[in-house]
Amino acid sequence: MSNILVGVTGGIAAYKSAYLVREFVRAGHNVKVMMTKKAESFVSHTTFEALSLNPVLRENNTPTPISHIDYSSWADVCIIAPATANTIGKINAGIADNELLSTILALKCPLVLAPAMNTNMYSNTIVQENIRSLQSKGIYMILPASGLLACQTEGEGKMQDPDIIAEKVLNILNSENDLSLKIENDMLSGLTILITAGPTKEYIDPVRYITNKSSGKMGYALAEEAYKMGANVILISGEVNIKSDIPNIQKIVSAEDMYNAFLSFYNEADIIIMAAAVADYFPVYENKKIKKNDNELVLHLQKTKDILSYAGTHKKENQVLVGFAAETNNMEEYAKQKLEKKKADIIAANDVSRKDIGFDSIDNEITLFFADGSITHTGKQSKQDIAKIILAESAILHSEKNK
Ligand SMILES: Cc1cc2nc3c(=O)[nH]c(=O)nc-3n(C[C@H](O)[C@H](O)[C@H](O)COP(=O)(O)O)c2cc1C
Repeated sequence: MSNILVGVTGGIAAYKSAYLVREFVRAGHNVKVMMTKKAESFVSHTTFEALSLNPVLRENNTPTPISHIDYSSWADVCIIAPATANTIGKINAGIADNELLSTILALKCPLVLAPAMNTNMYSNTIVQENIRSLQSKGIYMILPASGLLACQTEGEGKMQDPDIIAEKVLNILNSENDLSLKIENDMLSGLTILITAGPTKEYIDPVRYITNKSSGKMGYALAEEAYKMGANVILISGEVNIKSDIPNIQKIVSAEDMYNAFLSFYNEADIIIMAAAVADYFPVYENKKIKKNDNELVLHLQKTKDILSYAGTHKKENQVLVGFAAETNNMEEYAKQKLEKKKADIIAANDVSRKDIGFDSIDNEITLFFADGSITHTGKQSKQDIAKIILAESAILHSEKNK
């Protein structure tokens, strides 16, 4: 039995959400409803209170003093049906000017939207961009069907039937639960895991260097969680601001150092996870500090050794290799290319253009691309929880390879 939060916004399809709530309650789930003010002009909150057996979170009448936090932390999954163009746009912009939107911003569980609107509204470029942008942030969409709309026009925009929405929401819930079910406390016991973390620094002269924004948090979260799950951890780390009790940390500075440390240890590893942000190029090093003379200074950069490629071509049959892809655009395409080119078993891709995840943030959101073509979305979670999922998937793959 799960806690399902149903959000209703101001579209004509609001009445269908009463059936949706009934479906969830009939299936034995706990249901709470939140409504925008506009939604209440279509259906009364009393209907939803009677069906859900819980007080409705309304714009001007909240069940508890901090209802948006209480409702968001209670939910295992949240479905907004119907989701108006207005609410979709506001979610994408991070606006929280009503109770429903504030609750959505505070959610830690999967969010599902079922857009419904007139065809012209639905095909509007802004609405379409908002939908795509939300999808790229890991928000699930149950896209509308075509049919005769309430405004008597024929076309796309009709909310999916409540039974279809209910089935899809429960599938999402189950697949997310499956991910956490896969994690067992001692599943890495007896395995050696090599993890690389943090940035590399490429010195230009004795006082200057080129580096990148990696904080090392994801790599360290992987190492800490692997250690807790019983693994023998070898952590090769660039310079970071993190204290850790992991016994075996190999501290390095440059990409060349990381390559050399990797060569020393990769043979003993059962699973290799390359979470470090290794420089692609390094400057030709000047022994003495470069003096300020001309208006321009040209740096000559050379390619660093590609550690992931090396690992891919030299990995043993029974080793599992996980690479990371930090992308700002075309994430799926680049991640799939990297998976093939580097001969990795898994590529963990994240969108580093987002401010709320990735470099230096506490949370992350990863899509795992597997060599067999399957894909797993982790949803937005703490880096520790994401680490557990990556480790669990790697351990499962390792045991399949070693059968
Ligand atoms: C009769 C009527 C039906 C509407 N149906 C829809 C709809 O199906 N989808 C939609 O996106 N907006 C629809 N709207 C417009 C929204 O109600 C309006 O954008 C409102 O600001 C949405 O507020 P909310 O997102 O806070 O609920 C409708 C408006 C009216 C008057």
